[in-house]
Order: sequence, then C-alpha cells, then structure tokens
Amino acid sequence: MIDTFKIGIAGLGTVGCGVIEILQNHKDMIKARAGREIEIVAVSARSQKDRGIDMSAYDWCEKSAALADHEQIDCVVELMGGDDGPAKTLVQSTLESGKHVVTANKALLAHHGYDFAIIAEQQRAGIGYEAAIAGGIPVVKALREGLAANQITAISGILNGTCNYILSTMEDTGRDFDDVLAEAQSLGYAETPPDLDIDGIDAAHKLCLLSALGFGVKPDFDRLSIEGIRNVTAADIQTAKNKDQVIRLIGKATKEGAVMKPEYIPVSSPLAAIKSAQNAVLISADPVGDIFLTGAGAGRGPTASAVVADIIDLARGNIRPVFGISALNLK
Ligand code: HSE
Repeated sequence: MIDTFKIGIAGLGTVGCGVIEILQNHKDMIKARAGREIEIVAVSARSQKDRGIDMSAYDWCEKSAALADHEQIDCVVELMGGDDGPAKTLVQSTLESGKHVVTANKALLAHHGYDFAIIAEQQRAGIGYEAAIAGGIPVVKALREGLAANQITAISGILNGTCNYILSTMEDTGRDFDDVLAEAQSLGYAETPPDLDIDGIDAAHKLCLLSALGFGVKPDFDRLSIEGIRNVTAADIQTAKNKDQVIRLIGKATKEGAVMKPEYIPVSSPLAAIKSAQNAVLISADPVGDIFLTGAGAGRGPTASAVVADIIDLARGNIRPVFGISALNLK
C-alpha cells in the first residue's frame, strides 16, 4: 500500500480555496488518478477568517515557513505570491528540506527559478508550476513532456488576461483605456494596483519561464525587453481597425531572446481572435509544426485546476527536470 501524499497550503485566497474545493469535492477521482490519497495536512494564511470551506481537519500554521519544517508534509503548495519575502523563504526552505513545491508564482520563478531548480535537483524534489503560466492552459506539460522530441523554434502568445480584456473591449466598444481598466479591476482580472498587468511585467514573468522551457536557458528576467499597454489609446485601436488589424500585448521568445510589447496584428491571425481575459500560446516546433493552445489564463477554477494537476503528478512520483533539462545544463 502506497502512503498518502500529504500537502500543506500557504495562501488561502481565490486560488488556494479553489484548490481545497477540488481536493475535497473530487477525492475519489483524484485518488484514482494519483494512485494514492492526497491529504491536506496543514494550511497557512494571513488571517483565519471564515472562507466558506470546512478547514477544521487541517493544522493551522501561523507562519507559512512552518510548513517547510512540518514533519508530515511531502509537498508545499505556495499560493501567497510575491517575488521575494515569505514566498521565497518558504519555497527555498521547502526544497532544502527535500520536499516538493507546487506554486502559481511566476514572479518568484522568473527571478529565482534557476536557484530553486538547482536545489530541487540536488534534493531530488519537484517543482510544479503549471499554474504560473497561462492559468489553466497546460503549456508547461505541453512543452516539457508532450513536445520533448521537438526543437522549439518560437513561442509567442497572449499571456495576460487583464491586458487582453482591456484591448479587446476597447476594440469592441470604442471606450477609453482608463474606463475599461476600471472595469477589468471590478471584474477581478487586474491586480490592485494594476501596474504589473498593464506594464507587461506579469506577462513577461510568464514569457521568461516559457523561454527557459523552450530554449534551455536560465530564467533571467532582466534579459527581457518589456513594454506594456498603458499608452494605447482608443485612436490607436481605431487606426488598427482601419487597416484590418487589432492591437494585442504579444510576447515572443526565440533562442535569441524574448520581447513583450503591444503589436498590430492582422485580424486573420489566430491571436487576433483571442478576446476578453483569455490567454493563448502558439508554439512552433520541429518536426511537429505549430501547436496553438487557448483557454482561461486566470481565475479560481482554471488556476486551481493547474495546481491540482501538479500535485497529482508529484503524488504519482513524477519528478521532472524543472525547465526540461538538468538545471546544471541551462545556459
Ligand atoms: N492578473 C493576471 C492576468 C492574473 O490578468 O492575467 C494571472 O497572472
């Protein structure tokens, strides 16, 4: 009989609660898929307020760092966010203690992913981060597992739901940037403040990780060229329309480097059809050709879906090279 796979969850916001819901409501399916039971042992968050979910069976850890040292835990699920501070401390100490990590934190991995990959490899621990890139779209597994036999030639995509919501809504309604941004915030797409979204930083974090996966390079956020959509006006959108074009915030990565910027693209492009808060990733690879993935890039259900898929993968015993090759060989 294989032991239960025991996890601790740090961060009980929208995604954290979504993860608990899936694990509680689909226990039998998840056990069948993982080949063993997955049990939440402990949780940690800023406050112990009522979240409408029964967490009475879980240990409460006042400090997230306690999860890394928790004797029973096999895997820590980091859903706090932030590219430094408690999230960094937790992930680093969890890996150093030989436990697995699952995280949705693209900022953290874009800045420290290489160091973490080295520690993970030394400790034979896994880092699952499917939820960090394009939410519910399984692009990490597509690149690292499904396309493992291919030479990746280019990766491009729409990687921020807020920016895509703003640009496609401006296009459909003729409304101004500030007006649509306020709406994106009220719908819960944009962060508060929304700078990381509209300045292209959030999308660039994801592109940085895609570059590492596709081209075997160390994630190095400082190497990216980044421009956001803050200065796109209703007049720019109209100019694009007059030429049968749309404006989208597009990330492009090749082995030469990665660029995130708003681009005029023809309406016939598959990326032009991506509306609202959807994400899309176009992977060009040899010999398979082009693969186009689309879906929800953010939100409770889609992001929690990717987090739980990583937990199941680790419970199955699948420890993958974090960026597709040994961290020691990343260039
Ligand atoms: N604010 C982000 C977005 C959430 O709009 O895509 C997911 O990273």
